[in-house]
Amino acid sequence: MATIPLTLIFGAGRAGLALASAIGLAGGQARVVARSPAGEARIRARGLDHGSAQDAAALWILAVPDDVLPRLSSVLATELRSPLPAVALHLSGGAALDALEPLSVLGVSTGWMHPLQTLTFSSPSNALQGVPAAVGGSGAAAAAAYALATTIGMQPFAVSDADRPKYHAAATLGSSFAVALMDVAIQAAIDAGVPPVLARNGIARLTATAAERVGAEGTTEALTGPIRRGDVGTVVRHLDALDATLPAHGLIYRVMAARTLALAQKSGMPPETVAAMQQALAPRAR
Ligand SMILES: NC(=O)c1ccc[n+]([C@@H]2O[C@H](COP(=O)([O-])OP(=O)(O)OC[C@H]3O[C@@H](n4cnc5c(N)ncnc54)[C@H](OP(=O)(O)O)[C@@H]3O)[C@@H](O)[C@H]2O)c1
Repeated sequence: MATIPLTLIFGAGRAGLALASAIGLAGGQARVVARSPAGEARIRARGLDHGSAQDAAALWILAVPDDVLPRLSSVLATELRSPLPAVALHLSGGAALDALEPLSVLGVSTGWMHPLQTLTFSSPSNALQGVPAAVGGSGAAAAAAYALATTIGMQPFAVSDADRPKYHAAATLGSSFAVALMDVAIQAAIDAGVPPVLARNGIARLTATAAERVGAEGTTEALTGPIRRGDVGTVVRHLDALDATLPAHGLIYRVMAARTLALAQKSGMPPETVAAMQQALAPRAR
């Protein structure tokens, strides 16, 4: 297994702390640089090492919001005059390609490593274990990203520069939008009288089980529910209820139902059931 060079992580946020924990678990040394007392407290709470922008390290990870990357790399390179590393990576799947240009013009090899995982402040220290990670960048940086991902137990894969926006849109659809869709479901359940805590737990469990089945069997096999079964009458009653009391939810239901129906078609739904379902889902005159 490759050894991990001393790594300085800028940003004591969700991704930076998760990565520092993963490097520690793999036997490497990572120091985290925070900009605020809250960040300092998080580093301490997780038992991680503090760092400073003046520490010499072979590898930098910039774990800050995408739009902050150009400014932070410029500050580190020119204002703070930090000792420069051989390689600097950011963790974004969607930042502009030249986000680390202030460093690359000074001879630092720059690239990125984007874990395809949702990371929160409560993520366990092994949260990155087995997680796919998109890597890229200039020669040495791409190789370093690949080696780091492999050494901490992630599964690296390459995405071309041209495909990065589409790749990151996919990640957003699968994570933030899944959370937003759960929010819609929780609100509808609460509106139907389900106690809020049970609505949250119940919808989260439903989604977690569906996600687990997608991972194990694929979307076509994992699909259940009234559209998959061809229960047109049930779908009509859903829409009657949503259109009457939560019309915005009705719109979201129809968008999601169209994709669900396409999946059901793939599983062999008879054409007459598809047609009846399409009719049920059509927008209604008010
Ligand atoms: N979270 C995920 O699920 C996830 C997954 C994959 C990749 N990523 C990527 O990881 C990167 C960081 O995301 P995140 O979710 O970890 O964000 P985050 O939790 O909001 O943390 C961002 C960190 O950056 C610091 N920061 C903000 N503005 C700064 C500035 N102007 N100068 C210096 N530091 C600044 C914050 O400091 P304070 O602590 O003082 O606020 C915080 O520690 C992003 O590129 C994101 O795409 C995130």
